[in-house]
Amino acid sequence: MSAIAAPSIACKAPQVAVIGAGKVGSTLAQRITEKNLADVVLLDIVEGLPQGIALDLYEAQGLERHDKKILGTNDYADTVGSDIVVITAGLPRKPGMSRDDLLYTNAKIVTHAAKQAIAHSPNAIVIVVTNPLDVMTYLAWKATGLSQNHVMGMGGVLDSSRLRSFIALETGATTGDISTFVLGGHGDLMVPIPRYCTVSGVPITEFLEPEAIARLMERTKNGGAEIVKLLKTGSAFYAPASSVCYMVESLILNQSRLLPAAVYLDGQYGLTDLFLGVPCRLGCSGVEQIVEIQLTEEELAQLHRSAAAVKEGIDKAIAKTDL
Ligand code: APR
Repeated sequence: MSAIAAPSIACKAPQVAVIGAGKVGSTLAQRITEKNLADVVLLDIVEGLPQGIALDLYEAQGLERHDKKILGTNDYADTVGSDIVVITAGLPRKPGMSRDDLLYTNAKIVTHAAKQAIAHSPNAIVIVVTNPLDVMTYLAWKATGLSQNHVMGMGGVLDSSRLRSFIALETGATTGDISTFVLGGHGDLMVPIPRYCTVSGVPITEFLEPEAIARLMERTKNGGAEIVKLLKTGSAFYAPASSVCYMVESLILNQSRLLPAAVYLDGQYGLTDLFLGVPCRLGCSGVEQIVEIQLTEEELAQLHRSAAAVKEGIDKAIAKTDL
């Protein structure tokens, strides 16, 4: 066989580093590679875990008919040159652990992971998944020194997806026809906006009773807790992984999707110096635009309440770290 000529087009697929090879991280690696979106480097602190998952996923490659590489590692050097870094590393809340304990523990893990990952991929876009999400996204931004449009948190896409499914269950409509918007922090104080929830363009406020809408919004707010209660050990991971993958796809394919993500606010919605879920557009340059939709007085007040809770978490975490 004659020698292969030097390539004249870029041969390398985009690369996503997934930090944390737990439930969300490993499912995300599967989604990204099986959609043929990008090569994945899966990293975890536990020796053997990312290597085992990567090998298992690779052994399905021929059946799933994709050609993306999957590498499992404990060494950040292997993540070099990643286009996107997704941080899922962290501890779940254990019995006897307060919310603040979890905050400080995950703050240390996320800060370390963000610094290490960006040292090897200084041009990467960072998506944070670890909870408490909006606070961890702020810490990752501080730790990396990246520009604001290169850091974001996954929360609103998941909350909106849950609401979409609940509206489908209530109305019988197919999820593909349903569009939903949930703003604010990824927590108890999230702000679903029924006026912006539509079935084939028709707002649900036109055909669902206020009591039904209130019930669906409440179920969405408790969406994470409902799954925890059923699973007993562990929390949701299929829909969270799908949500991150949706964002990764918009970034890699430069789709400019308009979606709710935790982004840095610098005066938008009357809020400054925090990450909070608002509508934005994601393309290959990261957060391309933050969209300021018209909110009612009550909706804006709810968003500010949610922001205050996030800000409190940021202040507590910053006081305990060297950022
Ligand atoms: N560096 C790398 N990985 C770490 C570190 C660290 N310092 N500390 C913990 N991890 C790894 C754990 O070993 C584990 O494999 O992070 C992984 C977390 O996985 P799970 O416990 O399965 O959690 P998961 O369900 O994937 O959720 C991850 O996303 O939705 C949020 O609240 C959730 O914060 C949690 C995160």
